[in-house]
Amino acid sequence: MAETHTALLLGASRGLGLGLAREYLARGWHVVATARDPRRAEGLRALENGNGARLRIETLDVTDLGAARALAARLAGTKIDVLFVVAGQLGSGNAPIHAVSAEDAAREFVTNAWAPPSVAEALTPVVAPHASYVFMTSQLGSLANATGATELYSASKAALNMLGIGFSKRHPEHPVLLMHPGWVKTDMGGENAPLDVETSARGMIDTIDKFRGRNGVHYVDYRGQGLPW
Ligand SMILES: NC(=O)c1ccc[n+]([C@@H]2O[C@H](COP(=O)([O-])OP(=O)(O)OC[C@H]3O[C@@H](n4cnc5c(N)ncnc54)[C@H](OP(=O)(O)O)[C@@H]3O)[C@@H](O)[C@H]2O)c1
Repeated sequence: MAETHTALLLGASRGLGLGLAREYLARGWHVVATARDPRRAEGLRALENGNGARLRIETLDVTDLGAARALAARLAGTKIDVLFVVAGQLGSGNAPIHAVSAEDAAREFVTNAWAPPSVAEALTPVVAPHASYVFMTSQLGSLANATGATELYSASKAALNMLGIGFSKRHPEHPVLLMHPGWVKTDMGGENAPLDVETSARGMIDTIDKFRGRNGVHYVDYRGQGLPW
C-alpha cells in the first residue's frame, strides 16, 4: 500500500496557504488546513470537491494557543509530516513605527513572530519523528538586506527568524525552514508582484522535500536558495 503523507497548514483560507493546500492535494498528500473562519474560506472549501477524505478543514486563530492544543487533541492519532505556519499580517504597511499604535504593533508582532513557534510547539504531539517544521518568513526579515521599508512587518519577520532558531535548538531532530515565498500576487503581495501563487507553492514544496533529513535551521527561499540572516 502506498505511504500516506500529511501536511498541516496553519492559515490556509486564501493566498499562499490556499495555494499550498491545492498543490499538496495535487501531489496526493493528505492535508489538514486551518482557517480562522472556514465559513468565509470559500476557496478552501471548494477544494473539498474531488479531494474527499484527503482534505480536513479545521478552525484556528494562530494567536490562540488553547485552540491549538485543542486541535492537537482532535488530531490525536494523525502523524504530520510537514507542519507549515503560513499565517501572517502586514497591517502596518509602510507606516513608520511611531505612527502605529502599541495595540496594532503588538498584534502584528504576536501574529508574525510569537505565534508561529508557539503554535508549532502546541502541535508537536501530532508531529511525526523527523517531520519538517516550516515558518513563513520573508526576505524583508533579513538584517543583511534591510532597507527600512515596511519596518514593523520586517522587524516582526526578523524576530520570527530569531525565534525559529530558538525553536530549532529545542527540536534538533527536525529540519526547521524559515521560508521566503518570493514576492507573490496575493492580497498581501498585491498585483505588481512578479510571481503567481502556483509557482511559489510548487517551489516551496520542492524546497521542503529537498531539505527533508537536513536537521537544523535553514533560512531559504521558494527556489531552495539560502538567504543571508
Ligand atoms: N505575498 C507575498 O509576497 C509574501 C512575501 C513574503 C512573505 N509572505 C508571507 O506569506 C504568508 C502568507 O501571506 P499571503 O501573501 O498569502 O497573505 P494574504 O493573502 O494576506 O493571507 C494571509 C493569511 O494569513 C491568515 N491569517 C492572518 N492572521 C491570522 C491569524 N491570527 N490566525 C490565522 N490565520 C491568520 C489569513 O486568514 P484570514 O483569511 O482569516 O484573514 C490569510 O489566510 C504571510 O506570513 C506573509 O507574511 C508573503
